[in-house]
Amino acid sequence: MSVQKLAIEGGVAVRGTPFPTRHLFGDEEKQAAVRLFDEAIQSGNAFGYGGADEQAFEKEFAAVMGGGFADGVNGGTTAVFAALGALQLEAGSEVVVSPITDPGGVMPVAMLNCVPVFADADPRTYHMSAASLASVVTPRTRAVVVAHIAGEPADMDGILAVAKQHHLKVVEDCAQSHGTRYKGQLTGTLGDIAAFSTMSGKHMATAAQGGVVFTRHEELHWKGRQFADRGKPFGLTPPPGNVMAGLNLNLNDLSAAVGRVQLKKLPSIVQRRHDGGEAVKQGLAGVEGVALGWQEPGSYCTYWFLRVALDLPRLTVSKACFCAALAAEGIPSMVAYRHIQAEAPWFRERKQRWCPWLFRDRVTQEPAFPGAIAATDMQFNIPFHENYGPVEIRDIVEALSKVARAYRR
Ligand SMILES: Cc1ncc(COP(=O)(O)O)c(C=O)c1O
Repeated sequence: MSVQKLAIEGGVAVRGTPFPTRHLFGDEEKQAAVRLFDEAIQSGNAFGYGGADEQAFEKEFAAVMGGGFADGVNGGTTAVFAALGALQLEAGSEVVVSPITDPGGVMPVAMLNCVPVFADADPRTYHMSAASLASVVTPRTRAVVVAHIAGEPADMDGILAVAKQHHLKVVEDCAQSHGTRYKGQLTGTLGDIAAFSTMSGKHMATAAQGGVVFTRHEELHWKGRQFADRGKPFGLTPPPGNVMAGLNLNLNDLSAAVGRVQLKKLPSIVQRRHDGGEAVKQGLAGVEGVALGWQEPGSYCTYWFLRVALDLPRLTVSKACFCAALAAEGIPSMVAYRHIQAEAPWFRERKQRWCPWLFRDRVTQEPAFPGAIAATDMQFNIPFHENYGPVEIRDIVEALSKVARAYRR
């Protein structure tokens, strides 16, 4: 195929129009909110939390997961916090965390006076590798928080095997992986307990912010609920008063009412993201130098964004130059998903002088994460959502192919 002149060098851009917006919320969400206000005005009673809508949302969320227990909370970060809170870890316990993830998937460990210990990434993905998990386990390790990034599942067979061997509890961070499957099973059903984010940038939303703690284990569910609402004696009879120290992490009925509408839309959102991402993957087959990143065998991906891998030795330019050329073709990207939390000042500098920084030498773990660095050096992200249709997918494939051909070594 002939090499076309790149837009960055004065050629015609592949795409001249902005990408479509998501339109995540429609009239149904608005009506759900209006219904709650109407009821409140009519009855004279303000809506609150833990009422009919929140209870229904939790039941419906659990049903989507194939059964189990769901607790609505007010964020993805607080969902991770409550999931870990349910495990009742002793202060100073080590918790292995993912190398490349949102701070909300790591900071809750420190907030519980436990020690976050970073595993390294499989450089072909953004995920924790099972081998690296095994290498950082010590006699003090009690749990692992594994993030499924970009709507792609981590190596759960490997991670669960290491966890089993060392008796570790497994928290799945599914903030980016609603509807994602690993060997046929939904992410969030593979470990002991899972945390979802439902803020408005995620696959589905409970209005602006929110999250869900999901588990198939009833006892963990009640512990998580207690922790997420100031130790109220949920699940206990007779109620003996507040049974543990916790914060108020509750969701609320207004957010849950919106979330119930969103849950109905979720299957279609998941399907369209999956189909769109797969179409990009197929479209790039045979193009040298660029592809969607390697995925675990048995992955059903729901593409929170597109993770693009460059074969840099086959290209004449750096990743930054490649992305600049792509932008000129009308395809914006995030050049570096450098969410390596071990590099962040809050972890490196440990200025907040509370436990666990005070009593564990292990927190001096130096960032030496060649896998995570290679993963973020060789890959970049293209924003993506369910409203990208055949034209957007064609443009993404065409622009990636055009730039890769122009810069082929
Ligand atoms: C992997 C991961 N974990 C946790 C969070 C935190 O979720 P929230 O922003 O709802 O607190 C995010 C947010 O994007 C995330 O991507």
